[in-house]
Amino acid sequence: MKTIGIGIIGGGLMGREMASAFGRWCALTDVEVQPELVAVADLVEDVRNWFQRVPSCKQLTADYKELLANPAVDVVYVAVPHNLHEKIYIDVLEAGKDLFAEKPFGIDLASAKNILDAGKRTGRFVRCSSEFPFFPGAQRVIAAAKSGKLGRVLQVVSGFHHSSDLDATKPANWKRFSRTCGEIGVLGDLGMHACHIPLRLGWRPQRLFAQLQKGYPQRPDGKGGMTACDTWDNAMLHCWTTIDGNEVPMRLEMKRLAPGETDTWFLEVLGTEGGARYSTKEPKTLWLFEGGKEQYWKKTDLGFGMSFKTVTGGIFEPGFPDVIQQMWAAFLMEREGKLADRFGCATPEEAVGTQEIFAAALASQSSGQAVSL
Ligand SMILES: NC(=O)c1ccc[n+]([C@@H]2O[C@H](COP(=O)([O-])OP(=O)(O)OC[C@H]3O[C@@H](n4cnc5c(N)ncnc54)[C@H](O)[C@@H]3O)[C@@H](O)[C@H]2O)c1
Repeated sequence: MKTIGIGIIGGGLMGREMASAFGRWCALTDVEVQPELVAVADLVEDVRNWFQRVPSCKQLTADYKELLANPAVDVVYVAVPHNLHEKIYIDVLEAGKDLFAEKPFGIDLASAKNILDAGKRTGRFVRCSSEFPFFPGAQRVIAAAKSGKLGRVLQVVSGFHHSSDLDATKPANWKRFSRTCGEIGVLGDLGMHACHIPLRLGWRPQRLFAQLQKGYPQRPDGKGGMTACDTWDNAMLHCWTTIDGNEVPMRLEMKRLAPGETDTWFLEVLGTEGGARYSTKEPKTLWLFEGGKEQYWKKTDLGFGMSFKTVTGGIFEPGFPDVIQQMWAAFLMEREGKLADRFGCATPEEAVGTQEIFAAALASQSSGQAVSL
């Protein structure tokens, strides 16, 4: 196993999730790389102190430039508020490190393009985080879409719903303000999850009409007062795309105010002869549609059929930490040129593609018209 030194900038929700994926790397049986968390930079002392439980993590610093100067760091994963993406991502690349970026890859389209350019200029390996396609069910929907057995595709629905923002008493954090989350709001927060597979399959929207909704205008500020919140919380994008020469309606849904949904990622492709549907609400279950004189929805439990093999028994069900680990395996193996025919992480070009969709959605919302991309 080749050891790769990892540095994390931003040790919050996602920074800790990634550290735990490295901690149980022994679960993977067919990877040739071993990530080792060696450094963490975060502004908050308590956040940094959590990483003391990782013995290999020798550097804890408030200054990410110190992490970038550490020769033991080969790859930097960055999970910070969106207004900081562009500056920190470009600093990582200019320090000669490879970058595993978080979505939405900059606060807006211009920012995403600057990061893409910096990646090309420095020649570093860059990918963007998007873990849901690594669920076995998602991979099977992709396979069904590529199989040619669905007939003429009639519709695509891809989305991500949660309801974290339904609780009006939840204090505001940086995701509730345009200045830190971006004017794109929920599009930047959840949009990569909805757009990644359509873009990978070449299903780029050519035209879209957006319905964007805001959440509560005020929230507790966590200090006894209230603060104004201005981000979009829900987005429905009604798109046209072209599949096999046919114009096909595609709906991309991103919601932070979805009653009843804790954290649900879903993808459905329906054609004249077949269809496939997967949702993390039933994480081991795949639905396949069979056309004909009589029509059937067939349901099967997939078990743990991951791209990278593991010690976990094939009958068990996969979860969020598993797909995070699979995504890292894909990142590190692709960096070594050993991904083979497995699914790879979102590319910088795909990340820019998502931001083109988000920019068109903002333009559509403000004009009330459909917008061409
Ligand atoms: N892939 C996913 O499923 C997923 C899920 C949630 C969030 N995210 C993305 O991850 C990123 C971070 O989100 P989060 O939910 O982990 O946020 P968070 O608020 O939990 O963590 C962000 C951390 O960044 C630190 N930070 C801020 N400025 C810093 C600086 N200059 N130097 C070093 N550290 C700094 C903060 O102290 C905080 O600990 C965002 O881009 C978000 O969109 C991805």
